[in-house]
Amino acid sequence: MRETIAFDDVLLEPQYSDIKSRSEVDIGSNLGKIMRVDTTRSEAGTSVNVEMREEEINFSVPIISSPMDTVTEAEMAAAMSKSGGFGIIHRYNSIEEQVAMAVSAFDHVAQDTGLAAAIGATGDYLERAIELNKAGVKIFCIDVAHGHHSHVKDALFNLKQKINNVHLMAGNVATLTAFKDLENWGADSVRVGIGGGSICSTRIRTGHGIPTLQSIFDCASVARTAKVIADGGFKKSGDIVKALAAGADFVVLGSMLAGTDETPGEALKKDGKLYKKYRGMASEEAQLDWRGRCSVSEGICATVPYRGRLSSVLAEIEGGVRSGFSYSGARNIGELRARARFLKQTTSAQLESNTHILFR
Ligand code: XMP
Repeated sequence: MRETIAFDDVLLEPQYSDIKSRSEVDIGSNLGKIMRVDTTRSEAGTSVNVEMREEEINFSVPIISSPMDTVTEAEMAAAMSKSGGFGIIHRYNSIEEQVAMAVSAFDHVAQDTGLAAAIGATGDYLERAIELNKAGVKIFCIDVAHGHHSHVKDALFNLKQKINNVHLMAGNVATLTAFKDLENWGADSVRVGIGGGSICSTRIRTGHGIPTLQSIFDCASVARTAKVIADGGFKKSGDIVKALAAGADFVVLGSMLAGTDETPGEALKKDGKLYKKYRGMASEEAQLDWRGRCSVSEGICATVPYRGRLSSVLAEIEGGVRSGFSYSGARNIGELRARARFLKQTTSAQLESNTHILFR
């Protein structure tokens, strides 16, 4: 039986560094290329020239906000884009509602690749994608719990028949076999991570899953064209550094961004303190809300402390990530991956790694 590792099982060995300031570090990442079609009329107006060109989809911050109804709607998508990352607008709504969210976010996002929208792999997903694409969406995320599935294969095939020149993200998967299958089925990027999310109960309910860091290592272990989008279980900025060093191109955050002003819903007061709701999309409450029935609950509903503006939460996360790069002597993600040396921690090392001051 193979042993697997989770974020807390490893540390990165500090490396010689000549980085003098964290501002020298570029934590930007790339989602691949998107095809652009430029049409121009001839001067006489008698003919139309069509030119195709490839454009890189670059982000200055490798962070994506999760497509959950307590995390990403228009306001979060706009704020994520402003911060240099991007948000995936969730799909637990009508097509009209989701299109309205995308249109509203686009008012604050200048580039059409500055936000993404989630769709399913069955039901109205094709119509949803077509309408979102008409509204300008270029990045789609096929967002299902078990992405290594024939539904996802069919959905990727059908989307490619109907929509051109877009980026297709799909998932979630946990194994290299699944990653490679989704890549072969046409996914431009693959969400990697099953059951590791803070509000997930999939592993408890079904006995299935793989620690997210292990899945990242596995999926990034071979040559690939699809990007690795690590998802679920990030608790602190150090986990993000470990994920990027292990081969992730981006990380998806839920709980680390939950409770901010830009998440949907109001802050609630309890015992003089403010909280916001954060729930798994497969929790009983969420399922009842979006489809009126619950089959098997694989998530929980929680409240998290209210945390103010997203920009300040992200600034703290980004500061930690930049600092992490400099501890590895790395100026960018490529250098981080090349230089990273992972060490396994014993249980007593884990205790030492966490703050452990003794009060007497
Ligand atoms: P974090 O740890 O960032 O995880 O809060 C967010 C990710 O968790 C996934 N997700 C779920 N997984 N049951 C699950 O097993 C659920 O109800 C659920 N809701 C969200 C999703 O991948 C998200 O990005």
